[in-house]
Amino acid sequence: MAIRNIVPDTDEIMHKKCRPVEKIDQKIITLLDDMIDTLREAEGVGLAAPQVGVLKRIFIIDTMEDPQEFIEFINPEIIETSGTQEGSEGCLSIKGFEGHLIRPMKVKVKALNRFGEEFIFEGEELMARCCCHENDHLDGKTIRDTCEYEVFPEDE
Ligand code: NI
Repeated sequence: MAIRNIVPDTDEIMHKKCRPVEKIDQKIITLLDDMIDTLREAEGVGLAAPQVGVLKRIFIIDTMEDPQEFIEFINPEIIETSGTQEGSEGCLSIKGFEGHLIRPMKVKVKALNRFGEEFIFEGEELMARCCCHENDHLDGKTIRDTCEYEVFPEDE
């Protein structure tokens, strides 16, 4: 397990579409383990594979529960959304930037876990926001591209 460098959004890799994972091999398992270490160290809520320089459709989220638990999404698909929420978001790849975004209040995400088993995650509020944010990274989109406007801390 290792902490990987987080790629800034100025790097072109952050603006490319990621490819699906075809086989969950040892390289993917190591990537997942390293992403967990990296997210824990960075104290973020979610992390997508392109943020550590890998153009694969993978993201992880910290459920913000106690004890700390991470959910791994391989080849995720947002299959249902409902409601809306508005608020500011930051990104580990864009230090010092916050954007105002409108997101669904609830999402259902279908994905594979590291054992290749399909599961459906239902997230609300922060978890819904986080799934949408990380899923956008897999399509090369960051909050700088998708936010309504930049939020400056003194405005809040
Ligand atoms: Ni991000």
